[in-house]
Amino acid sequence: MLRKEVESLGYRILREDKSGVTVEGGWQEVVDLNLKLRTASRVLWLIKSFEANSPDTLYKEARKIPWHKLIPREGYISVQSFVKNDYILDTRFPNLKLKDAIVDQMQEENGVRPDSGNEHDRTNIFLFWYLNAVHVYFDTSGETIAKHGYRKMPFKAPMLESLAAACLVSADWDDQKGSFINPMCGSGTLAIEAALMAANIPPGIFRKNFGFMHLNGYDDSIWTEALAKVEVKDKIKSRIIATDIDGMAIQAAQENAKIANVGKMIEFDKVPFEKTLMPEGPGIVMLNPEYGERLGEEEQLKEVYKSIGDFFKQSCKGKTGYIFTGNTQLAKRIGLRTKSRTELMNARIDCRLLEYELYDGSKRQDIRPKI
Ligand SMILES: C[S@@+](CC[C@H](N)C(=O)[O-])C[C@H]1O[C@@H](n2cnc3c(N)ncnc32)[C@H](O)[C@@H]1O
Repeated sequence: MLRKEVESLGYRILREDKSGVTVEGGWQEVVDLNLKLRTASRVLWLIKSFEANSPDTLYKEARKIPWHKLIPREGYISVQSFVKNDYILDTRFPNLKLKDAIVDQMQEENGVRPDSGNEHDRTNIFLFWYLNAVHVYFDTSGETIAKHGYRKMPFKAPMLESLAAACLVSADWDDQKGSFINPMCGSGTLAIEAALMAANIPPGIFRKNFGFMHLNGYDDSIWTEALAKVEVKDKIKSRIIATDIDGMAIQAAQENAKIANVGKMIEFDKVPFEKTLMPEGPGIVMLNPEYGERLGEEEQLKEVYKSIGDFFKQSCKGKTGYIFTGNTQLAKRIGLRTKSRTELMNARIDCRLLEYELYDGSKRQDIRPKI
């Protein structure tokens, strides 16, 4: 999903692995990606790669980097890492070694030691050390960009914003393909992300602070120019409908949509999912039902999932249905054949986005339960 999104922004992917994609770029790209990416967690900017087989080599190599040219003199730094090798048991140790290398080098050049600690609101350095290979990056996002900053009212089990966006990217949602209907909307994340995408509102617009703002070479015009280039639409073509049985959920979703500047683009209604207004024509119906993380809940939910299947069959003909769930056993109760199954992690829970083609009667409905 991230690759798809980065490519759609016009970038050429140089490398792709489990944890990310690599593109080439400088200031403009760093700012652009932080502003626009919906499915990413952070944008790392490579400073240097080298080999190290001990914490002392890490220190020696990292001290050769001209940190005093990269980090503001009176700066504040924090170091995070991913380390997997035999030289290190406690990841706090390489963080400390790298931090020492930075502050010692800066003290030598500037005569001042920068402050350091665990706050992520200023200069962030990320260390990736796998076997002998070390990559040192600036984490130019700082606080994660997986949260898009508009959700002040969480309600029950809200989806992480980047995960909701990934579901929409996976479903190829855009403003030209009919309506987006989100029964069981909870705090409204899926509907809000759909509206943000339709109106071309980049998620970074809601943020005032990023890691890149605390690097030498940054001045405000870089950010304001990037913002000025964004062409936000006042009106969208499609209808976006969000409903929930719980009035508190609708209230939270409306509040969040207002903060995200898409309040007027979404039609909200407090109804059971079966009663959701279904506009004519094509569209996407996407639901994120609860999936019974606590004992005893699963039994009750079996009926709910079965009714979602009935709702798909009876009320959503001609649309594409999606269920995002962490419980594939419950999903079998839908009783429809899946067209695709996309694996996504929700924190530590292995989840699926299941796609169902809901034929409008002209084609025969295949109701064999297979997921
Ligand atoms: C897991 S939450 C959805 C979270 C949402 N994706 C978000 O990001 O906030 C499931 C929602 O389904 C709603 N719900 C449960 N049963 C329902 C029903 N029969 N009809 C409509 N909504 C229902 C709950 O009130 C809850 O808000």
